[in-house]
Order: sequence, then structure tokens, then C-alpha cells
Amino acid sequence: QTVQNGSFTFSAPSNIALVKYWGKKENQVPANPSVSFTLNDCKTVTTLNFEKKNNNSEFSFDFLFEGQPKDSFRPKIEKFFERVEVYLPFLKEYHFSINTQNTFPHSSGIASSASGMAALAINLMSLERLLNPEMTDAYFYQKASFLARLGSGSACRSIKGSVVVWGEHAEIEGSSDLFGVEFPATVHNVFKTYQDTILLVDKGEKQVSSTLGHDLMHGHPYAERRFAQAHENLSALKKALVEGDVDTFIKITESEALTLHAMMMTSQPYFILMKPNTLQIINAIWKFRQETQLPVCFTLDAGANVHVLYPENVSAEVLQFITSELLGYCQNSQYICDKIGTGAQPL
Ligand code: PMV
Repeated sequence: QTVQNGSFTFSAPSNIALVKYWGKKENQVPANPSVSFTLNDCKTVTTLNFEKKNNNSEFSFDFLFEGQPKDSFRPKIEKFFERVEVYLPFLKEYHFSINTQNTFPHSSGIASSASGMAALAINLMSLERLLNPEMTDAYFYQKASFLARLGSGSACRSIKGSVVVWGEHAEIEGSSDLFGVEFPATVHNVFKTYQDTILLVDKGEKQVSSTLGHDLMHGHPYAERRFAQAHENLSALKKALVEGDVDTFIKITESEALTLHAMMMTSQPYFILMKPNTLQIINAIWKFRQETQLPVCFTLDAGANVHVLYPENVSAEVLQFITSELLGYCQNSQYICDKIGTGAQPL
């Protein structure tokens, strides 16, 4: 089948890891399995226009971010195209216009690599499907996740599903190092509508890129123990997610967040990505939990912002606590209310 031109638009969400991915092998293979909640509102919307061209000798694309050309992004896309070309052999046959925007505030410290690479990957996969219309839906989503992984590891968890596992694990049926899979067991109702309120503590550029961070796990003194721990935590979290065991969920989720930062603090060179206000917020959450016994906990990404996680049925109390006690620790009192979502969508 030949296709001259056309366009697709997809949104793809960000995701927040519960068991963290930190450390990788060759070809974007993770050193340990991870699991995340897919977000609903923090997403990237990308339109991919494509037009057949005559000269097939090199990649050809324009890139617009929020309507403006953004040259700093071109090398990332170029590198992504190089990595995926063997899996998408048509890439050099088209000129692409990639037009992308994020629903979350620009440079909020929320990583857009997961949502951005997932949105680009699923758009390209849609062209692949147009050229090969016989493919199944299962193949389409699996390969979209496979491609997204080659853009940014955690992006493979932003394609499909609410709870997504990436990385081989003995107790997760169908799990793979090459793509994300939907959590294979039924998640307890309490987790199906989980809320994630993101407190924007520091909106500055990351001090350490995740590429560098993953590399620092090579030769890290605690690497092997950490990778084993991620397997143990995933087993325990799987059980908690199925049984609705919120206490275990809290213990594992918070410990994973602190472990991620502990790995950065104990690498060479070492980094502290938390800010004083990150710790203020963590302590305030612990005090609030102690006093109210409400099941609210935190997690962190590779930065200073805090994700506050809690079940929907305690939203009123938790939001009251956040707005009255935590916003003073946020830059310009900024926060984003998000919740668990379902993955990428065509628009
Ligand atoms: O997808 P990357 O290479 O940007 O790595 C992201 C790693 C963390 O966000 C820190 C943890 C995770 O599992 O998402």
C-alpha cells in the first residue's frame, strides 16, 4: 500500500512510577522492572503530518513546540529516528511536520519526555498501521510502547493502561524489558480512581539528565542490591494493588521514592535533587497522616516536585490540607491536580 500524505493527532499522558526505573543496560533495557500509574491530565498532544518525498537518503522533519520551532529538540528526535528506523523502514520516505504541545505548564519541572516520546511513537505507529492495515490492535499498542521505549525508557509506560509494568518480572505475566504491559491482575477498586496532586516545588531545569543518572548506576556501590529490591518491591506492590492494601502501598511507594534519591546521593558524582521545601512537604504529609490516619503518601520523580497520592474518597480532606498547609512550599503556590488515566488517545 502506498500513502502519499496525511496526518494523525494523539495525546499521550505522563506517568508516575511507584517502583522506580533507575539504571539501564544497552538498547534501553531497564536494569530492573518498574510499575507506574498513568496520569490523566498531564499530557502531550502531538500532530504528525506526513508527505511522501522523492529523495529517501535522509530524515526530513520540522518540529514545532507550542507553535514555535524548537531547535533544541531536534537532536533528540533525530536520535530517536535513527534508533527506530529499522523497525519503521518508511521513515526516510516521508517529510514529517511534528507539532506538539503540553497540557501542563511549560518548564514546570514535570518531565515531558515520557508523554512526548509516547505521543510521537504512537503517531508514527499509526502511519505504520496505515501502510500495513492487517495488524492487530494488540500488536499496534505493543509496538507503539516498544518504539516509545527507544525514545525515553519510561515513555513505554505511557501508551496503554492505567497501571503499567515495564521490565521482566517473574510474577507479572507477559512482562518484558522491551515494552510496557498493562498490569495483568485486577486492581482493587480503591486504586482505580487514585488521585495525584503534583506540588511544584522547583520549576528549574533538572541538574542531572536521566540519561546521565541511569549511567551512574554502572559501578554504583549499591546497584545490585537496589535492582534486587525493585523485584521484591514489585512483588509486594502487586499483592497490595490486588488486595487494596493501602498501608503496604504507602510503605513501598514512599520507600521507592526515597531510594531513587538515595541512589543519586550515593553515586559518583553525587546529587541532591530534593530542595528544603521537598522535605518540609514530606514531613507535613507524615504528620498529617499520623494525626488523621488518612491514607495519603508521596512519591518523587528525579526532581524536587512532590506527587501526593491518595484515594478519591478522601479528596476533600486531603485537598483542604494541601491548600491550607502545603502551597506555601510551592513555587508561586503552583500545583496540578491529576489522577489515574488510561493512556494515549487519538484526537
Ligand atoms: O525515561 P527516563 O530515561 O527519563 O527515566 C526516568 C526515570 C524516573 O522517572 C526517575 C523513574 C521512572 O521509573 O519513571
